[in-house]
Amino acid sequence: MSKIRVHDKFFEPYLSATSIEEKVELIANQINHDYADKNPLFIAVLNGSFMFAADLFKRLTIEAEISFIKLASYKGTKSSGHVITAIGLDAELYGRNVVIVEDIVDTGKTLHKFLPQLHHQQPASLKIAALLYKPEAVIYPVAVDYVGFSIPNKFVVGYGLDYNGLGRNIKEIYRLAD
Ligand code: XMP
Ligand code: MG
Repeated sequence: MSKIRVHDKFFEPYLSATSIEEKVELIANQINHDYADKNPLFIAVLNGSFMFAADLFKRLTIEAEISFIKLASYKGTKSSGHVITAIGLDAELYGRNVVIVEDIVDTGKTLHKFLPQLHHQQPASLKIAALLYKPEAVIYPVAVDYVGFSIPNKFVVGYGLDYNGLGRNIKEIYRLAD
């Protein structure tokens, strides 16, 4: 595999399709084990997580449900700062075992701001599965329960992740070349 160009930037191969597949399988096995008989509700955060969520869900052998949301961030009042709202959150979370599915946790801001709204609905449990996690970038601590790959603080594309809309259909994950 060689460098690719997305818009104005060059990206180099980073995680192969096979290594992603193996990792997704590993996470699915853990979840199959941890959630047997719990009928977990997966909430996948669009757009970036669509591919991870689909591949993960296919590998579940337990009873499980899935729903999809989009998170929109807008400026609230001065006191509330940035407010994050979920579009399409139609599921009842009360008493459910919920697993949030994210493509990547970067600064942690999105989930840090959004999780309290989910806790408000009193799920029985609330865990996070993220394919990618950038430990060096974290500003808002978020406990990620299932991590695919911990990666350095470099921008990545592919496997659902985009650079200005492009790159989501690439089977591998590429990172910004120096
Ligand atoms: P935070 O900082 O709130 O960010 O944890 C989470 C969201 O930011 C996007 N993001 C990325 N998207 N390559 C991408 O394509 C990246 O390297 C990257 N880092 C953060 C992503 O939408 C994620 O849900
Ligand atoms: Mg995202």
